[in-house]
Amino acid sequence: MPNTSRVVRVHRAGGPEVLELEDLPVGEPGPGEARLRIKAIGLNRAEAAFRSGQYFFKPQWPARIGYEAIGVVEAIGEGVQHHAPGDRVCVLPNFVQGPHGVYAERAIVPASSLLAPPPGLDDIAAASVWMQYFTAMGIVQAGRAAFGDRVLITAASSSVGIAAIQITRWLGAEPIAVTRTSAKAEALRALGARHVVASLECDLPAEVMRITGGRGARVVFDPVGGPNVETLAKAMASEGILIIYGGLSGQETPYPHWTAALRGLSLRGWVASQIWNDPQRFAHYRDLILRGLADGHLRPVIARTFPLAQIVEAHRYLESNQQVGKIVVTVD
Ligand SMILES: NC(=O)c1ccc[n+]([C@@H]2O[C@H](COP(=O)([O-])OP(=O)(O)OC[C@H]3O[C@@H](n4cnc5c(N)ncnc54)[C@H](OP(=O)(O)O)[C@@H]3O)[C@@H](O)[C@H]2O)c1
Repeated sequence: MPNTSRVVRVHRAGGPEVLELEDLPVGEPGPGEARLRIKAIGLNRAEAAFRSGQYFFKPQWPARIGYEAIGVVEAIGEGVQHHAPGDRVCVLPNFVQGPHGVYAERAIVPASSLLAPPPGLDDIAAASVWMQYFTAMGIVQAGRAAFGDRVLITAASSSVGIAAIQITRWLGAEPIAVTRTSAKAEALRALGARHVVASLECDLPAEVMRITGGRGARVVFDPVGGPNVETLAKAMASEGILIIYGGLSGQETPYPHWTAALRGLSLRGWVASQIWNDPQRFAHYRDLILRGLADGHLRPVIARTFPLAQIVEAHRYLESNQQVGKIVVTVD
């Protein structure tokens, strides 16, 4: 076994070109850690924010990068009890990037981030599942989406957006997908959206009111934020719940006071640590995700794959916003 591994590190904040493939010593896992041979990596938008220095914390450079993967355990550190060399495992995005990162041929990760892959999924699908479905479960519960609700889902073509479409369908709610242009409208309908709104091509509140017979959306899931939140609020039903779970707009999010007050809206933020820090909630969502995958309610959608050597191109594609679903990087 070679004692070096190809590893992606970031030496300074910047565009995709700052992702550098280096040969680094492999090292041994410390207490509570495991070393994996990585097979496939699920890309997340959070990693583009981390790379460009726009994440919610400022990393120390050089930093390792990458949250979500599938691999095979090569070695375990002291005190690791539930995993052994040879196990096929997924890596959950519940650790701090920088000291750890899964964009690599071999990576050391906290053993607390390991989870058995869902049965029956190949490496590419298994690398894509946990972040999108845990997040979508979390926002669906936070928004108390239920049977019959009209649910507005912005950035609907994102991996989390598609997961939210699938889960709201599973509940018997009615997903209304928002995408900026109509280029992805057919794809979103084929993936389960009951209606599609191309937000740059119409008056969004008027279109949502038309679709919902004047009532508005009872729940909104929004990872975009920024001034457009006021527009979303105007598309909502009385006493609706708007969950802001990301900052794709890169802009400050003003509180839409009068629209929220006049309609009695609730606005709240959401982050995945609300799952990782709650073992009961984690186990509940994990079991629901496994059930949904087994019975076909949940079906991971892979937009495109890239080899690790093309990690820069993979990030360019991630930020091009052409994707419908998850981007996965494969490691030979
Ligand atoms: N809070 C949490 O813990 C948590 C966990 C996971 C993910 N997230 C967030 O969920 C979001 C989706 O993540 P992902 O990895 O699934 O993303 P992704 O696959 O990269 O999704 C990108 C899609 O979002 C839309 N989009 C991008 N920039 C936009 C903008 N400025 N305004 C409107 N729409 C925009 C585009 O769709 P169109 O071009 O079709 O409009 C694009 O195809 C991200 O914001 C991420 O940070 C949050």
